[in-house]
Amino acid sequence: MSESLILPPTESKAELYAALIPQLKALVEHEQNNIANLANIAAALKETFNFLWVGFYLKNSSSELVLGPFQGPIACTRIKKGKGVCGTSWEKEATVLVQDVEQFPGHIACSSLSKSEIVVPIFDSNNCFFAVLDVDSEQLDYFDEADQQGLEQIAAIIQHDVL
Ligand code: SME
Repeated sequence: MSESLILPPTESKAELYAALIPQLKALVEHEQNNIANLANIAAALKETFNFLWVGFYLKNSSSELVLGPFQGPIACTRIKKGKGVCGTSWEKEATVLVQDVEQFPGHIACSSLSKSEIVVPIFDSNNCFFAVLDVDSEQLDYFDEADQQGLEQIAAIIQHDVL
């Protein structure tokens, strides 16, 4: 795996995810350390899409997530199950897409710049909840079906090729 990403000159999110995903698979396949792999996935997503914030919150106990590898401004370190967008994604074990964070009851504002957000749950190889992948944008209504599909494919790579 080369140490730089090769991305097409397009603004199509679907095309960017399609180019990125095989490179992510190649990036993680020869490294056994989970933190190293999650750190490179966060960096690759930041480099591809220039999201405001992209990173992982990892299950730390039966009721709490703790901040994992990320790119972007400093962030809150611990989130309870059922709290905020991340804790809601964990509780529902489902992707949560928020077009306007101010309309999401209980949203946890780590950065006042964040306007929209998507959180995807990640399961381990035994199908047990492991973490969330959280992405924030400075634009309202930024995330769409292409992000959901692309990020869920990345969550599946983490489940099957990383963990
Ligand atoms: N907004 C998240 C908290 C994490 S930050 O966005 C990095 C939430 O409501 O769970």
